[in-house]
Amino acid sequence: MASLLGYCRAGYENDLAEELTAKAAALQCFGYPKFERGNGYVQYICYHQADADKLGRQLPVMETIFARQLVVVTGTLEQLSREDRVSPVLAEILQHDDDSVQNGLLQVEHADTDAGKELAKFCRKFAVVLRQALRKNRALTFKEKPQDRALHVFFTDFDACLVGYSYAACRSPHANGIYRLKFPAAAPSRSTLKLEEAILTMLSPHEQHTVLRAGGRAVDLGACPGGWTYQLVQRDMFVEAIDNGLIAENLMATGLVEHFAADGFSYKPQFGRVDLLVCDMIEQPDRVARLMGDWLVNRWADHAIFNLKLPMKKRYETVTQAMADVLTRLQKLEDSFVIRMRHLYHDRDEITVSILRE
Ligand SMILES: C[S@@+](CC[C@H](N)C(=O)[O-])C[C@H]1O[C@@H](n2cnc3c(N)ncnc32)[C@H](O)[C@@H]1O
Repeated sequence: MASLLGYCRAGYENDLAEELTAKAAALQCFGYPKFERGNGYVQYICYHQADADKLGRQLPVMETIFARQLVVVTGTLEQLSREDRVSPVLAEILQHDDDSVQNGLLQVEHADTDAGKELAKFCRKFAVVLRQALRKNRALTFKEKPQDRALHVFFTDFDACLVGYSYAACRSPHANGIYRLKFPAAAPSRSTLKLEEAILTMLSPHEQHTVLRAGGRAVDLGACPGGWTYQLVQRDMFVEAIDNGLIAENLMATGLVEHFAADGFSYKPQFGRVDLLVCDMIEQPDRVARLMGDWLVNRWADHAIFNLKLPMKKRYETVTQAMADVLTRLQKLEDSFVIRMRHLYHDRDEITVSILRE
């Protein structure tokens, strides 16, 4: 049966399953999710063969919260012989190959779990051999074409894999759907990577340029020790950093940061409307979402990027409920907003939301 395969952080399979079920139903595609807790992926089995391809074309991974990558699965291979794993995988791909669609990329991937990581070296080697075989059979372009359809081989073990494809407009351009970043030595906390990943993956280059413009103003609620403020300062923004804690000296030394030891829930911008509000306070998600709504509705900030901390259970439901009230309030305004929600690679038990005023 055809299915849509979604990769996610281990432990979030149930959340991705609920999300895929809801989003597939909204696109009139029906089926059921299949997963094992902790294995880092979910298969949404479609009752109708054509629905998997429809989901592959109409559900961009960036419009989901918990999926890192989405792949239309055409075949499942098990008990592959260690002597020759390439031939059956090649045969499976060729069997479903359609001359009218060009494959411009091959990704050989694995789950982001301890067991999955043991497959990483093998996947890299396998990709080299399979790529050659595909090109020889004219099933893959000789030069990589990231704008074309991509072939995916997702190994679940050394002798088992799922084979499928993704369309450029709907997939993550990154292997395993993971955007890796190097920790900047001058940043005061690892949290900095959460905001950096959000900026680089959730905002287009044009949005990055306008939302985080040099000389612009930002407010950082729950700023200490300053990892998020660091990202804003790196982009030459002036920052009001709000937190009772201590902020890193090197940030204060830039002259771009003012630190206010105040409560983030009652703080108002000191110098009038700001370009960007960011918030990483550890608080109830509905409370943070309501606060973000207040700032945007009252025009204290043009745009907002914030984290919603997740509970242990019913995370998809909690997030959608927390955001529902904000969305209703924003819809009543004359301005329109682009809203994205993602469980980023550098997020832990939290998701990142960006709300950009158009
Ligand atoms: C996860 S840390 C933020 C880390 C920061 N984004 C960074 O990159 O270094 C959460 C911070 O929120 C602050 N915080 C929690 N509740 C707050 C409130 N009501 N007002 C202001 N700050 C608050 C805490 O003091 C803590 O420093």
